[in-house]
Amino acid sequence: MLITDPKHPQIKARAWSFIPPLKTDLPNFRFDVKTRLREAFERRAILGSFKDRNNVILAFAEGDRLPGLMITALNDLVYVQFYSAFWETEMTLLERDIPKLLKEVFPDKKFTGLAIQFRNLQRAKNLRVHGGKNQTTITEFGVNYGIRLHTHYDCGIYTDMSEIRASLKEYFYGKSFLNLFCYTGAYSLFALKNGATQVSSVDLSARYLDWLNHNLGLNPDLDQSKHESIEMSAEDSLAKMEKTFDVILCDPPTASSDGKKVSRALDAYDKMMPAMLKRLNPGGRLIVFLNTHSVSRSQFEERILKLAPGFSVEKRLSLGNECPRLSGFPEGDYLKGLVLIQG
Ligand SMILES: C[S@@+](CC[C@H](N)C(=O)[O-])C[C@H]1O[C@@H](n2cnc3c(N)ncnc32)[C@H](O)[C@@H]1O
Repeated sequence: MLITDPKHPQIKARAWSFIPPLKTDLPNFRFDVKTRLREAFERRAILGSFKDRNNVILAFAEGDRLPGLMITALNDLVYVQFYSAFWETEMTLLERDIPKLLKEVFPDKKFTGLAIQFRNLQRAKNLRVHGGKNQTTITEFGVNYGIRLHTHYDCGIYTDMSEIRASLKEYFYGKSFLNLFCYTGAYSLFALKNGATQVSSVDLSARYLDWLNHNLGLNPDLDQSKHESIEMSAEDSLAKMEKTFDVILCDPPTASSDGKKVSRALDAYDKMMPAMLKRLNPGGRLIVFLNTHSVSRSQFEERILKLAPGFSVEKRLSLGNECPRLSGFPEGDYLKGLVLIQG
């Protein structure tokens, strides 16, 4: 059984089930949707995702057998994002069912707003908000971040990276840290929270750096004097900078789906890697990411290791348990990261 999407530029249909359903009528399909939503929410309850943060991915599309449908809790907001126009036709029901199911699975949580976004290749905002709220503050591992659903295409934090952030905690204590392509500063603030002595955040966008500053203001326990924002391209900052760092993280923007740009995302490392190595203190760590499913994990690793002679992989990073990946569905395995050390 397929969910069709004739107007989508690339994905014309998504698989709903691989065995013929006993009954193909709409009420039965809708019953299936509810069952899968409930299972997805229960999975997060079992994972205990809300234990140390209130931004949690509640349904991860194909990985939760809900193709093209993502649901994220952002403190008191439920953020529903869909990638297939099909879900628009079901949205009235989902708007009713999602809050109801959440109440059943997470009786202690209070969600006061629901926002719905149709994701698209043009990155148009396409946002619909219920409950009158389009902003909130989330707390992830003791750090507060401002969320704004109405100002940009993305909301201010990448929750799919939360588990990766947690796994990097040990690297920052007593270290200086350079965060390239920092966006709203999730890694910068996390590093400060975990004992970094000095943090430099680089982004091309003044608006995102303003947002980062706003986020710093939401965390009076963090010492702002240890942080500097650099509004510049990552490439230029590396060329102009004189400082060196114990930890450098590089998370270039998601490559677009057009074939050319994908290769450019990986090609950017050809130039940046030698420059990053120059800015790294002896014994330091490089943390590099690639955000596309079209380059395999082994291709990424091989290319990076070639560019960093004398370095080896200390840790491999990928989406965590909250973002289940389907075997045979490489699109769901889009995030690849490596921690490199000398020797
Ligand atoms: C994928 S986001 C990074 C996400 C961030 N690491 C996080 O986890 O929150 C990409 C960011 O790169 C910035 N950007 C794009 N091209 C850039 C460039 N050449 N140099 C520096 N920043 C750039 C964008 O403004 C955006 O904030």
